Amino acid sequence: MAGGSGSRLWPLSRTLYPKQFLALTGEQTMLQQTVSRLTGLEVTAPIVICNEDHRFIVAEQLRTIEKTGSIILEPVGRNTAPAIALAAIVSEKNNPLLLVLAADHVIEDQKAFTEAVKRAVPLAEQGKLVTFGIVPTQAHTGYGYIKRGDSVGDSYTVDKFVEKPDVATAEQYLLSGEFYWNSGMFLIKASRYLQELEKFSPDIFIACKKSLKNISADNDFIRIDAAEFEACPDDSIDYAVMEKTTDAVVVPLDAGWNDIGAWSALWEVNDKCKDGNAVSGDTILHDTTNTFIHGGERLIATVGLDNIVIVDTKDALLVATKDKVQDVKKIVEQLKVQG
Ligand code: GDD
Ligand code: MG
Repeated sequence: MAGGSGSRLWPLSRTLYPKQFLALTGEQTMLQQTVSRLTGLEVTAPIVICNEDHRFIVAEQLRTIEKTGSIILEPVGRNTAPAIALAAIVSEKNNPLLLVLAADHVIEDQKAFTEAVKRAVPLAEQGKLVTFGIVPTQAHTGYGYIKRGDSVGDSYTVDKFVEKPDVATAEQYLLSGEFYWNSGMFLIKASRYLQELEKFSPDIFIACKKSLKNISADNDFIRIDAAEFEACPDDSIDYAVMEKTTDAVVVPLDAGWNDIGAWSALWEVNDKCKDGNAVSGDTILHDTTNTFIHGGERLIATVGLDNIVIVDTKDALLVATKDKVQDVKKIVEQLKVQG
């Protein structure tokens, strides 16, 4: 899934070039890292689902890492429930297991990831909707929370799935010790996903079916019916299916996972100096701690800062406190209004 807007990583992530196509945590872009993560698993060529405007970026990024795959082009973003439905319908004939990955994650321990996916395979084969659960470390409100139920081997049935709870609820879940974060990665049989989608969100199911009635394919691009897809409701798999299904299982994952949702996550995953600063570009720091600086355009000098994010690009400079960076998307909304 590579169709998100990445607006919380403005000003580096832009509408024409969102974060999943940027090399934020290494040499490869986030999309390339996601596709490379499949090494070691028996998978067929990936299906990348992205906005039509990004088709050449995606094709080129796959080509440079010598990967091929099909690329489903969305004329508009309708969130992840429809995106996954498109992939499921396109591949329905062979009814494969779909390993659904977001193109905005960092996973440090490749081996642990591969092992967790392998553990999930027999469960998904039985028709379970498998999620990968992360032990939470804070009351993050940008994630889904999964309450574990009965053991199934070294995994658990999902007793309850709550997408993006408010902070008081998240705190309660964290303290209870019974919840995982939803990693946003899933392993589901194509037909099983479509069954549950049809049951819980029939409008999305029907709109996606109609969108793919007359597909045309050129090169690796799969084009869908724009008018039908525009009519599809906007919803995520988490609200549309995972909160409602009674057939989900959570496989615990301890693999140095992080969703690079906002600048604070990049500070978390980057190497830091002894003062807790993660810095790139030309900088002079005095009495500065726990700060993230992305520079490169000019010298950045700071005095007396703590817990600040500074992102400097050619045409825009962001300065924010680290605990408020989720609101960077509000700046992007305002920019859109101003045109
Ligand atoms: N193709 C396509 N089309 N992809 C999309 C669309 C879309 O309309 N919208 C989002 N995506 C992609 C994003 O690019 C990202 O790779 C992935 O789907 C997840 O979307 P996010 O918007 O980043 O979701 P989130 O982080 O708020 O929440 C999800 O992930 C969390 C963990 O990272 C949920 O699954 C949460 O429950 C989960 O905790
Ligand atoms: Mg995300």
